Amino acid sequence: MGALTDIRLDEYLKLSQVEKGAYLKRDGRLFHVLFAQQFGREDLESLGRLATRIRFIAKTKEGMDFLRNVLSDKRAMLYFSQPSTRTFLSFCAACQILGITTGEVRDTSTSSELKGESREDSVRTFSSYFDLIIMRSEIGGLAERMAWTLSNTERPVPIINAGSGKDQHPTQALLDIYTLQRSFETTGGIDGKTIMFVGDLARGRTVRSLSLLLLNYSDVRQYFVAPEGYQIGSDILQTLDKAGVRYKLSSDFHALIPEADAIYMTRVQDEWDKTDGKPAVSFDRGRYSFGVEDLKRLKEKAVLMHPFPRRTEIDPAVDHDPRAVYWRQMRNGMWIRAALIATIFGREKVIDEHAASKV
Ligand code: CP
Repeated sequence: MGALTDIRLDEYLKLSQVEKGAYLKRDGRLFHVLFAQQFGREDLESLGRLATRIRFIAKTKEGMDFLRNVLSDKRAMLYFSQPSTRTFLSFCAACQILGITTGEVRDTSTSSELKGESREDSVRTFSSYFDLIIMRSEIGGLAERMAWTLSNTERPVPIINAGSGKDQHPTQALLDIYTLQRSFETTGGIDGKTIMFVGDLARGRTVRSLSLLLLNYSDVRQYFVAPEGYQIGSDILQTLDKAGVRYKLSSDFHALIPEADAIYMTRVQDEWDKTDGKPAVSFDRGRYSFGVEDLKRLKEKAVLMHPFPRRTEIDPAVDHDPRAVYWRQMRNGMWIRAALIATIFGREKVIDEHAASKV
């Protein structure tokens, strides 16, 4: 299968996401990371295994000294033109763990975009100085277009999509899957589980990416629970229909709590109200919030997740319960992103060998 150098942009953009995934490799290995559909089950399992190895190696000073040399020959650019705490900092920490030096633009009013430079020229400029570009943008599809553009220049550096528009947040979905893998380690894994998404599903790109990644697992039921106007997009439902996935749409969160193996809460993404006017419909936030009382109805082995930031969706008093895994979920982001970057640069083997030498 080809790379992005083998196909015109207009032809590439006409492909399905699954077909596009085949063009995102270079020399047979993962290169650009743009959307969830490019990952198969084996990819998810090997990334999870590598993340766990990095996590264990990092427990000692000797291990940290080893990891700091794994990619000390690389530089990464963090280009975040949308606000971020976790994604930015966990990528930053992942780079530090692997010895990658970083540069950043987080506020385009301090870059030459203020002088009218296009996003495209900015990204191409970053590729002149860095070996990897990690980018978050409010413009859906920008990372994808830039991946094609850079692939066809003399500096074809990989791009990682750290959140694009309202469409996808693939690395959040990777950390969510890693969290589910770890949470269900002793209860048969992700296969056969019921995963419930709650909140603003219309604009939650983390939900979209995770729903698609879950297609890699057998017999997973997906519940989408949202107030009127905030329900998941029909494109995701069509994909689930095509894959024969069982799903349920509901607006009654509290009634469904006892059925879930994982509950994935999300906040209302009202920053989008300002740009496209949808879906600024008011609703009773309490009906889509998880409180201490709800713990009684949550299965004993279920997990409560949230990509964060949170507002009132989960009472902080719930945080102490062992089923509330969102703080661990957040930290998992650092390990899985380190594993992802190590994989892009083909350094998995050296990490595996180091881990094996310590057993
Ligand atoms: N989960 C997530 O993407 O958080 P940030 O917006 O803080 O990066």
